[in-house]
Amino acid sequence: MDKKTILETVLKDEILQLLSHPTLKTIKETVQLENVRAYIIGGYVRDLILQRPSKDIDIVVEGCGIDIAEKVAEKFGVQVNVFKNFGTAMLKTHEMEVEFVGARKESYRRESRKPIVENGSLEDDQNRRDFTINALAISLNKGDLGSIVDPFDGITDLEKKLIRTPQNPDITFSDDPLRMIRAIRFAAQLNFTIVEDTFEAIRRNAGRIEIVSKERICEELNKIIMSGKPSTGFELLEKSGLLRQIFPQLLLLKGVESKNGKRHKDNFEHTLQVLDNVAEKSDNLWLRWAALLHDIAKPATKKFDDKLGWTFHGHEFLGSKMTPGIFKYLKLPLNEKMKYVQKLVLLHLRPIVLAQEEVTDSAIRRLLFDAGDDIDDLMLLCDADITSKNRKTVDKYLSNFQLVRTKLKEIEEKDAIRNFQPPVSGEVIMETYGIGPSKEVGLIKNAIKEAILDGIIKNNYEEAYNYMKIEAEKLGL
Ligand code: CTP
Repeated sequence: MDKKTILETVLKDEILQLLSHPTLKTIKETVQLENVRAYIIGGYVRDLILQRPSKDIDIVVEGCGIDIAEKVAEKFGVQVNVFKNFGTAMLKTHEMEVEFVGARKESYRRESRKPIVENGSLEDDQNRRDFTINALAISLNKGDLGSIVDPFDGITDLEKKLIRTPQNPDITFSDDPLRMIRAIRFAAQLNFTIVEDTFEAIRRNAGRIEIVSKERICEELNKIIMSGKPSTGFELLEKSGLLRQIFPQLLLLKGVESKNGKRHKDNFEHTLQVLDNVAEKSDNLWLRWAALLHDIAKPATKKFDDKLGWTFHGHEFLGSKMTPGIFKYLKLPLNEKMKYVQKLVLLHLRPIVLAQEEVTDSAIRRLLFDAGDDIDDLMLLCDADITSKNRKTVDKYLSNFQLVRTKLKEIEEKDAIRNFQPPVSGEVIMETYGIGPSKEVGLIKNAIKEAILDGIIKNNYEEAYNYMKIEAEKLGL
C-alpha cells in the first residue's frame, strides 16, 4: 500500500464522518447531479491530517464554483455571497462556512483585484497553490469519493514537517509575494522547517513584499505572534530579509556594541525571549505586542557613560510615544488596543524599580492608579522581562515581584485604587463653592487624588470632602 492509501485508511472514519455532514452531503449530491467534479482543498485537508481544529472549508469545482454554490444555497434556503471578480462564492449552513471557487490555471487569486482569466482542472489549480501541504484535495466525486489527491507528495511533507512550494519557488512567490510570510507563519505555527531552496527563494524575493498591502502582511504577522513560540517566526523573518522590509524598527534592536570592555545585550534576542515568555503564559495578542514593543526605543536612547556603562534612559517614555506611529505604519488599529500597548510599554519598568527599592504603600497606590485593570498583565510582562542567564538574579527579581504582588493585593483591598473614581466629584466642588467649571475645580480634584495616593487621606467621601475644604481655603474660595 502506498502512503496515501495508508493515510486514507487511517483517516477513513474521519473522512466518512465529514462527508456525511449535511452541508458536504448536499454539496456532493449537487456536483454529482450537475456532472462536474469537485474537491475539498487546501488548509482544511492539511488540518484534518494534522488533527488540528479547522472551521472554514474550501471547495474547488472543475467548472463554475458560483453556480454550484447557488444551487447548494437554494437547497438549504440560505444566502450566498458572490464575489464575481474573484469567481468565488461563500455560504454558511449547519455551522459550516464553505467557500466555492472554480479551478484555475491562472495563479491563485483570492485577493487580487484582477479578474480571473482562465478556467482549469484540479491539477492546474493545485499547481498554483502556495505549498505542497496546502495543495491536498479530497474527492467529492463518484468513483473515488473520499480519496486524497496529492500530486506533490504533500503527505510526506506533512509527515516530515516541511514547507515546500509545489513549483519553482520563484514563480510561486512572484504569483503572490505574501506567500513568503505565509511560509514563515506556517513554520512558526506548525513547528515545521522551510526547505532550503524555498527559503533561499524567500531571501532572493524579499524585496517583492513591498507590493503587498500592509493589512495582509499584518494579518500574517499577528498569526506569527500568536504561535506557540513566536521567536521562531521572527528569527526567520530576520534571516530571510523580510523583517527589514516589513518592520524595520524591530530590526534596529539587533546587535551588540562594546566600549571600554562593556557590552550591552542584544535587544532583539532579548525582546524575542520576552515575547516567548509572555506567549507561554497568555494568549492575549495585545499583551504579546506590548512584549514586542517594550524596548523598541532602546536604540534611540542608547548612550555610553564612563561610570554607568550603557544606558537607555527614558526608553519606556519614548517607546510609548513611538507606539502610535508603529501601529499606524503597520496598519494596526489605532484604538484602545493601541492605548493598552502604549500604557504597558510606558509602565514596564515601574515594578522593577519598585522591587529594587523598599516597597512603599504610596508607590504601590500610584502603580495601581496608573495601571488600573491592566495591572495583572503588566506584572506578567515584568516577569517575562527577566531574561538574565544568572539564576540568582532571576530568582531575586521574581521573588521581589511576588512581594510587589502581595502588596498590590493588600493595598487594593484596603484602598480600591484599581479603577479610581474621584470620591468627590467636580459637581460637588462647584456646588459647594458656587463656581462654574474652572481651573480651581481641577486643582482641588487633583490635590484630593494626590492625598489619597500618598496615603494622607483614605479613599472615601468624608475624608475627601474635608480635604476639599482645606484645599479650597488655600485657594481663597
Ligand atoms: N492559498 C495560496 N496562496 C495564498 C493564500 C492561500 O495558495 N497566498 C491557498 C492555499 O492552498 C491555502 C488555501 O488557499 O491552503 C486557503 O487559504 P487560507 O484560508 O488563507 O489559509 P489556510 O491554508 O486555510 O490556513 P489558515 O486557515 O491557517 O489561514
